[in-house]
Amino acid sequence: MKSKVLVTRAIADGLLNGLREQFDVDDSQQRDGPHAPGELRRRLAGADGVLLFGDRIDAAALDAAPRLKAVCNISVGYNNVDVAACTARGILVTNAPGVLDDTTADMAWALLLAAARRIVDSDRWLRAGQWHGMTFNDRFGTDVHHATLGILGMGRIGRAVARRAAGFDMRVIYHNRTRLDPALEREVGARFVGMDELLAESDFLSLHLPYTEANRHIIGAAELACMKPTGMLVNTARGGLVDEAALIDALREGRIAGAALDVYEGEPTVSPGLLPLANVVLAPHMGSATRATRLAMARLAIENLIEALGGAVPRCLVNPEALERRRT
Ligand code: 8YV
Repeated sequence: MKSKVLVTRAIADGLLNGLREQFDVDDSQQRDGPHAPGELRRRLAGADGVLLFGDRIDAAALDAAPRLKAVCNISVGYNNVDVAACTARGILVTNAPGVLDDTTADMAWALLLAAARRIVDSDRWLRAGQWHGMTFNDRFGTDVHHATLGILGMGRIGRAVARRAAGFDMRVIYHNRTRLDPALEREVGARFVGMDELLAESDFLSLHLPYTEANRHIIGAAELACMKPTGMLVNTARGGLVDEAALIDALREGRIAGAALDVYEGEPTVSPGLLPLANVVLAPHMGSATRATRLAMARLAIENLIEALGGAVPRCLVNPEALERRRT
């Protein structure tokens, strides 16, 4: 009997054909978007593997999936999965790193530039019929060129963001749990600094670290207070890294100049306090959203799933501890 695979979102372009040859695939080609409460659990009941996009897999979902052997995330972040609960049950968890680095770095830059040069606010203003000719003193933004870019989290995406700064003649500083080796620092053109210096010196602070409980609110009221009043925060990583309420206060009171966000603490809910602010650019978690990149992410996740269900060690395994108790 074929193993059963659940695919939680509509995935196009015949990508699932390879899976269908080997597995009994329950896909959701008919609909895209999150499951209704309880629906995912119901669909997981007979699944041996799941190809996951955005959905949350917690212990309750795992309890409803006694046959589950592999959870393969079509994303690099995997804070949507209770990895410890998977490991305890011998379920392998994989992510999809690497293939989205450049696309996500492009998005961080798009947001940074949009915030710095007031693109979204100006677009709204123009469409509202408020433009009556060029003025000398209006629509002032912030210079990006020759400014200081601060990067918190210098993994693959952080480094891709840093490399792009050379074109803007920026000074790049970064903070990371571990310092990069000097050759890599030279290659990306970034200088390692402590957290205090990062906050105090950055004209633009861009977050590129994974979300963990330890990183929750790594940018809170205290950190925002250390930023320049002219500084701007860019977050394409995870919403929970930033204390959204503290950010709203800082933006409202002009304690920092602006922010550009792709991710939120309570996604898909966005704190209502952000919505009226003209000095914040808001995007709906779309850092990896180009067709080519999403297809590459899905392909990588599918390869992981095939490896995991075939008894191999999947190439992007995030919980190797689960191997010794893996379900067969
Ligand atoms: C995904 C992302 O689109 O890969 C990630 O971690 O944030 C995005 O690429 C999103 O997580 C949906 O799963």
